[in-house]
Amino acid sequence: MFPKTIAWKDNRVVILDQRRLPEEEAYLECLDAYAVVEAIKAMAIRGAPAIGIAAAMGIALGALGIDKKDFTPFYQELSSICKNLKAARPTAINLRWALERMKRVCEANREKAVEAIKGLLVSEALAILAEDIETNKRIGEQGKALIRAHDTILTHCNAGALATGGYGTALGVIRRAWEEKKGIKVIATETRPLLQGARLTAWELTREGIPVTLIADNMVGYLMQQGKIDLCIVGADRIACNGDVANKIGTYTLAILAKEHRIPFYVAAPLSTFDKNTKTGQDIPIEERDASEVTAMAGRRTAPQGIAVCNPAFDVTPHRYVSAIVTEKGVLKPPFKKRLQQILEKDAG
Ligand code: MRU
Repeated sequence: MFPKTIAWKDNRVVILDQRRLPEEEAYLECLDAYAVVEAIKAMAIRGAPAIGIAAAMGIALGALGIDKKDFTPFYQELSSICKNLKAARPTAINLRWALERMKRVCEANREKAVEAIKGLLVSEALAILAEDIETNKRIGEQGKALIRAHDTILTHCNAGALATGGYGTALGVIRRAWEEKKGIKVIATETRPLLQGARLTAWELTREGIPVTLIADNMVGYLMQQGKIDLCIVGADRIACNGDVANKIGTYTLAILAKEHRIPFYVAAPLSTFDKNTKTGQDIPIEERDASEVTAMAGRRTAPQGIAVCNPAFDVTPHRYVSAIVTEKGVLKPPFKKRLQQILEKDAG
């Protein structure tokens, strides 16, 4: 069974603290929206769909703490909580998507008593969590045909249960193929600087008995050259209208290497990761994180004091390197633009 990333319990948000994995399975209890904002910023919870769910629960928690009887002052206070959550991490669109959905619940029910709206917000956050798990299972089902028996699959970062409400997107496809007894093997890149591949993907797959081999990021080209990788599958933080994909830093490098070696490069993501307001990958904001993530490892300094550091958390893979995008509604093949437009219109209607 996959790990429980996030839960709502007794009007608290309980988060599996991913900073402490794989050594410790410790849970963080957030008592207010501020604690949820901090958990997202510090990456106690991370991964695009997971931070969307956390933000929705943060709004529900924030709403419960507002002591206003009238809708207008209640909504004003909630909007400022919303702003803080939105700013916690800028690249993953799922966070904004979830906040918009929560706001719509408020606006559609503004005639109701504030106490009733609070209840509706809690229900909506729980629905977002439940739907995410179902969506990921559908992504797994849609994507399983891309995986042949005994394939060795490369994945980057963590797009698993830990990055979502459960089951995972890229790891959802891998999980489904494993359930179908395809005898697959996984290669996980360690994913510097924060080691989501080593700490999280390797942990998540090992505990379910899915064979996984860990490599340092700079070993990918060699393994591809040796014919040791059959396909790549990764998640996404935001997908532009033309199919350009923002995902964990290093994804672009992998995609180019895959093309050079004629290895399929797949992206698995829910429709909530598509941004209809972003035309191309150039418009996607890339989060720059603290220099200390690059200059230290496991609490030990690994670079000289005062060294200049560049630490973008994501990069954009142009759509021409993407062989297909697996969504809950089907597998999209290039050219993506028209197909994406159709699928998003259908989803909105
Ligand atoms: O910085 P992170 O750990 O939040 O980055 C996560 C990723 O890049 C994942 O691949 C992406 O969010 C997809 S998760 C299903």
